[in-house]
Amino acid sequence: MPSAGTIVAPSVLAADYGHLADEIRSVELAGADWHHVDIMDGHFVPNISFGPDFQKAVRAAARCPLDTHLMLEHPAAFVELFARQGSEGITLHVEALDPVRETLENIRSRGLRPGISLRPGTPVEQLEPFLAAVGLVLVMTVEPGFGGQSFLPKMLDKVRWLKRRRAELGLSYRIEVDGGINAATGRECARAGADVLVAGTFIYGAPDRAKAMAALRG
Ligand code: DX5
Ligand code: ZN
Repeated sequence: MPSAGTIVAPSVLAADYGHLADEIRSVELAGADWHHVDIMDGHFVPNISFGPDFQKAVRAAARCPLDTHLMLEHPAAFVELFARQGSEGITLHVEALDPVRETLENIRSRGLRPGISLRPGTPVEQLEPFLAAVGLVLVMTVEPGFGGQSFLPKMLDKVRWLKRRRAELGLSYRIEVDGGINAATGRECARAGADVLVAGTFIYGAPDRAKAMAALRG
């Protein structure tokens, strides 16, 4: 079961951009804890989403922290821009082409939470060298690039592994899942050890967002 402490982060990717401020306020009223902001460059993933100016508009409308997910081949050059536009945490991919450790250190040196993520096909053990350097690990539960895809149940093994390694190593990173999260898959992820549930379609696409949020919390 999701615990009372489970963080729910609606993904702005699924919002109606024509009414951005209203959308942000609506999910906050419905009980959002964070806003998840998906940044795509058309290279790391076959889609383009939005940039720092868009995040600035989200920040202006939001009260909750912004959780920025960089799906970029070259995240290093963008850390400063997104830090300036109100991120509380910035997550990059272990598959990025820039030096991962230095980029995580850059995020931390700005007082933000560094996060590391991985594609469904990347073995979770590849994160081991970075676990002590992050405040969050983001397990992609769909192939990154698009909202509205189906959850990949095999990814639950990664969540369990991360939970076990966290205890063994005495670390405190949060475990976040992203992609295809709804009431049923969110419950499975929380049971496996996820602390943060990102949901785009399930919350923004719901006729009653407060009800969707409550269903996610179990
Ligand atoms: C996918 C993004 C996700 C996406 C999730 O690349 O990282 O955050 O918005 O969308 P849903 O919840 O619709 O799968
Ligand atoms: Zn994301």
